[in-house]
Amino acid sequence: MFFSHWLAALLGGSLAVPGALAAIVLNVDDQSSLTSAAKTVAMDMVNYYNDRDSKDIPGKFDGTWWEGGSMFMILIQYWFLTGDSQFNAAIQEGMYWQKGDDNFFPSNYSQYLGNDDQVFWGLAAITAAELNFPELNNQPSWVSLAQGVFNTQVPRWDTSSCHGGMRWQIWPYQSGYTTKNAISNGGLFQLAARLALYTRNATYAEWAERIWDWSATTPLLKQKNWNIADSTTCETQCTDHGDWQWTYNYGTYISGAGYMYNYTNGTAEKWKEGIDGLVGSSNQFYPTAGYNNADGNVLVEITCEPVTKCDRNQITFKAYFSSWLAFLTTIVPGSSAEIMPKLKTSAQAAIKTCTGGTDGTLCGIQWYTQANDNTNGLEQQMAVLGVLNANLVPFKNQAPYSADTGGTSKSNPSAGTNTSDNSVPTLNNVTTGDRAGAGVLTFIFVTGWAVAVTWMIRGG
Ligand SMILES: *[C@@H]1O[C@H](CO)[C@@H](O)[C@H](O)[C@H]1NC(C)=O
Ligand SMILES: *[C@@H]1O[C@H](CO)[C@@H](O)[C@H](O)[C@H]1NC(C)=O
Ligand SMILES: *[C@@H]1O[C@H](CO)[C@@H](O)[C@H](O)[C@H]1NC(C)=O
Ligand SMILES: *[C@@H]1O[C@H](CO)[C@@H](O)[C@H](O)[C@H]1NC(C)=O
Ligand SMILES: *[C@@H]1O[C@H](CO)[C@@H](O)[C@H](O)[C@H]1NC(C)=O
Repeated sequence: MFFSHWLAALLGGSLAVPGALAAIVLNVDDQSSLTSAAKTVAMDMVNYYNDRDSKDIPGKFDGTWWEGGSMFMILIQYWFLTGDSQFNAAIQEGMYWQKGDDNFFPSNYSQYLGNDDQVFWGLAAITAAELNFPELNNQPSWVSLAQGVFNTQVPRWDTSSCHGGMRWQIWPYQSGYTTKNAISNGGLFQLAARLALYTRNATYAEWAERIWDWSATTPLLKQKNWNIADSTTCETQCTDHGDWQWTYNYGTYISGAGYMYNYTNGTAEKWKEGIDGLVGSSNQFYPTAGYNNADGNVLVEITCEPVTKCDRNQITFKAYFSSWLAFLTTIVPGSSAEIMPKLKTSAQAAIKTCTGGTDGTLCGIQWYTQANDNTNGLEQQMAVLGVLNANLVPFKNQAPYSADTGGTSKSNPSAGTNTSDNSVPTLNNVTTGDRAGAGVLTFIFVTGWAVAVTWMIRGG
C-alpha cells in the first residue's frame, strides 16, 4: 500500500518538495489546464479507493455501497472528457463485480439497500452506454445493465399509498420504507428518460412522464415555485414534507427533464418549463449573502455546509448536480448561458480547496471559502472532479450518444428480469460497517442531526 502510493505519486509527476504546498493551478478557460487539474484530483480520489479496507471486493466501499456506482459514473465522464483511460480497468472490474443478476442488486447487500442506492449504479451504467465506455465481450452491455435496474425498480412502483411513487427503502423491515423521497423518484425518472432517448423505446418515456407527473402531485416536485422537498411519507398520503434542500435532488429532475425535452424533439412545453423552473429555483444553491463574497457564483450544499454537518453522502452531491447540468447543455440548446458561467466560477473556487495532504492537492468541502477546511476524503475529491468534468463538457462538445447516433451498447429490454431478488430476503449477518450505509443509521443520523440543527438555530 505504501509502495503503490509512492509509485502513484511518482508516475503522476506530483513529486512535492517536502514541506512546500503545491496548489493545483487551474485556468478554467483552458482545456489542457482543466484536464491536468482533473487528473490530479482523480488520482487522489482513486488512491483512496485503492487503499480501502474492502479492496478485495471490487466496487465495494467501506461502510457504503452506493458510492461505488456514483464514483464510477464520475470516472466514466472523466475518461470521456479527458481521454485518460488509466482507471478504465478498475471501473469495468467494479461495475461488473457488483452487477448482481444484471440489475445492480447483488445479494450480499440487497437486503438493506434503498431504491436510491441501486439507481445510482443504473445511472453509472447508462452513462457508460451514452459515452461508449468500453465493454468486455463476455459481459452484459452497459445499456442492458441500466435496463436491468429499470426492470427491477418499476415493479416496486407503489400505489398502496399516495396513488403511486417509489418508496425510499425497499423492504418493510427497513426504517425509511414508508418514506417516498425525491432522489429515489427523481433517480428513476432520470434513468427512464435516458433509456428513452438512448433506445427510443416509448415505454421508458411513459414511465419517465408517469414519475414526473406523480411527483408533481406531492411536495417532491412543487410546480408552483419549483421547490423539491427531500421526502414525504406514506402515512400522510404524501402531503407532509421534509424540506431540506439538496443539489442532487434538483439535479436528477433537471437532467431527466432535459432528456425528455430532447426525446420529444423539443415539442413538449412541459419539459422546457420544468428545466427553466428548476434551474431557476436551484439558484438557491448559489447563495449571495454571508458566503465569503461568493456572490451567487459558487455552488454550496446549503443545508449542511454552513453548519459543517455534511455527511459523506452529502459531500458528493455537488458532483452530480454540476456534471448532470453541464451534460444537459449538450441536448437542450440555449441552456448553457444560464448554467455554465456559475459552474465555471464554482470550479475556480473548488480547486482552491485542494491544498490538503502531504502533496498539497487534497480537496476540502466548502468551495465558497476557497480554502481547505482541514477535511479530506474520497468524497471531497469526487465533488471537485464532478465540477471539473462539467467545465470540460463544452470543450468536448459531444452530446451523449444514443443507439441512433453512434451508441454501440446493445439494448436488452428484458435484462435483469430472470431473478429471485424481488422476494423479501431472510436477514442474515450484516456487518456494522455495511449497515452504516443503510437506512437505519441514516435515520438515526438524520434524527440526531435534526436535533442538533434545531438546537443550533434555537441556541444561536
Ligand atoms: C460478496 O461477499 C463475498 C464474501 O465476502 C465476497 O467474496 C464477494 O466478492 C462479494 N460480492 C460482491 C458482489 O460484493
Ligand atoms: C422525433 O423526431 C424523430 C426524427 O424525426 C422521430 O422519429 C420521432 O418519432 C420524434 N419523436 C417524438 C416523440 O415526436
Ligand atoms: C437533441 O440533442 C441533439 C444532440 O444530440 C441536438 O443536436 C438536438 O438539437 C437536440 N434536440 C432538440 C430538440 O433540442
Ligand atoms: C420496450 O421496452 C419494454 C419494457 O422493457 C419492453 O417490454 C419492450 O419489448 C420494448 N420494445 C422494444 C421494441 O424493444
Ligand atoms: C435464469 O436463471 C437461471 C438460474 O440462474 C438460469 O439457469 C437460466 O438459464 C436463466 N434463464 C435465462 C433465460 O437467462
